[in-house]
Amino acid sequence: MMNKKKVYIETYGCQMNFYDTEILGGVLTKSGKYEITEEPEGSDFILLNTCSVRENAETTIYNRLMHLKSYKKSNKNLIVGLAGCMAERLRQEVFNKSDLVKVVIGPDEYRRATEILDNSLAGEVGIAVRLSRVETYEDIEPLRTKGISAWIAIMRGCNHFCTYCVVPYTRGRERSRSLESIISEVQSLNDGGFKEVTLLGQNVNSYLDEETRTDFPNLLRKVAEIFPDMRIRYVTSHPLDMSDDLIQAMSEFDNICNYIHLPFQSGSDRILNEMNRNYNRTHYLERICKIKEKLVDFALSTDIIAGFPTETEEDHQATLSLMEEVGFDGAFMFKYSPREGTKAFKMEDDIPEEIKIRRLNEIIDLQNKIARQKNEKEIGKSYEVLTEGPSKKKKTEWMGRTLHNKVVIFDNTKRNALVGDKVIVKITRANSATLFGDVED
Ligand code: SAH
Ligand code: SF4
Ligand code: F3S
Repeated sequence: MMNKKKVYIETYGCQMNFYDTEILGGVLTKSGKYEITEEPEGSDFILLNTCSVRENAETTIYNRLMHLKSYKKSNKNLIVGLAGCMAERLRQEVFNKSDLVKVVIGPDEYRRATEILDNSLAGEVGIAVRLSRVETYEDIEPLRTKGISAWIAIMRGCNHFCTYCVVPYTRGRERSRSLESIISEVQSLNDGGFKEVTLLGQNVNSYLDEETRTDFPNLLRKVAEIFPDMRIRYVTSHPLDMSDDLIQAMSEFDNICNYIHLPFQSGSDRILNEMNRNYNRTHYLERICKIKEKLVDFALSTDIIAGFPTETEEDHQATLSLMEEVGFDGAFMFKYSPREGTKAFKMEDDIPEEIKIRRLNEIIDLQNKIARQKNEKEIGKSYEVLTEGPSKKKKTEWMGRTLHNKVVIFDNTKRNALVGDKVIVKITRANSATLFGDVED
């Protein structure tokens, strides 16, 4: 038998990229010629599955490539490749930017990964970066490591074209995979002992199964109904498409997690308009009201951008006041980063760096304060926690998550819960990021 070539894949960016790494792993191992390894040392290929969303995401990759030169020194035959969004964005240009990279594969070309790696072994430089209107990889079995939590991409691409964002260019247009293929993938997760599934998409609300006309709320209902023991999560929805029916569907099933990630980006209507977000502050707050009215005991998180072109102090204050008004449990907060090829790139990046940093810090400080206050309100309450494993700090302390996605740390010496067990934990202490508590019998 032929010796299989070892491929090490390192993943950056969003959950979709982590899922895609499993797709790549699935394609390569199925060929019988390649195997995935957990260690870069001794591998024949090192692939970086990359992100382009902000400049520093790409800087990280360039730094990593510099570092990989040492692996190349100890293994002259090592082949380095880029996959993911940066591969798609830079295409041929990657080869000019780094002489180490010999393989470039975009997010819609993973089916061809075997062929491209084969060619590179024969000494060719390999590039495949075509975007597809139909590719969903629905027939490809992802190569997953065993665990309790898994991802499934239900749709890919984005049609929104927010003016700051590269994703529509690196991921192409929206397309959904079939209801049937999603159900059968959740079935195999369920059979494999997984306890939680996250339905992924750049914009899950656009999901539509053409054949059965199943939309996203009904997909959620179907999955929740067929798999009552699975926890079901999803990301991301756009505030414009956060429908009453979706909120309704979430309220109907206990196993659909009461956690919503709803990026608002800016609290200022003028900036939202410049961003092409297609909603205003009033619409966003009205959606939040609806959620608060329909869902009990739920958590909310968001994305915020500081320092978008032309953002005034008043616009920035509008962002802070929206944060106060809603009270998010968590937030991903970013400094605006101009991306070539986007519409906003043509605007002058006119907010000086120190002002961007100051505004971002104000946003972060406020969010930490709000999150701490919200978490402190959890003290004394009891929650079902899905156990994920020992915490990073102490072996006797374990961590897990509540249905509303809060991280809970508890002493596991008495109960000896196993990974995947559900335990009831009474919260005794909290900070802005984590809850701490005792297991109840
Ligand atoms: N499809 C998802 C995720 C998009 S990328 C969504 O729409 O929510 C994740 C976040 O990165 C965005 O919500 C936005 O807050 C941030 N982001 C995207 N482009 C950016 C840029 N050019 N500069 C700073 N932050 C950006
Ligand atoms: Fe980017 Fe906007 Fe699409 Fe999200 S909705 S991926 S921010 S273009
Ligand atoms: Fe990054 Fe691409 Fe995801 S740009 S955030 S890896 S879709």
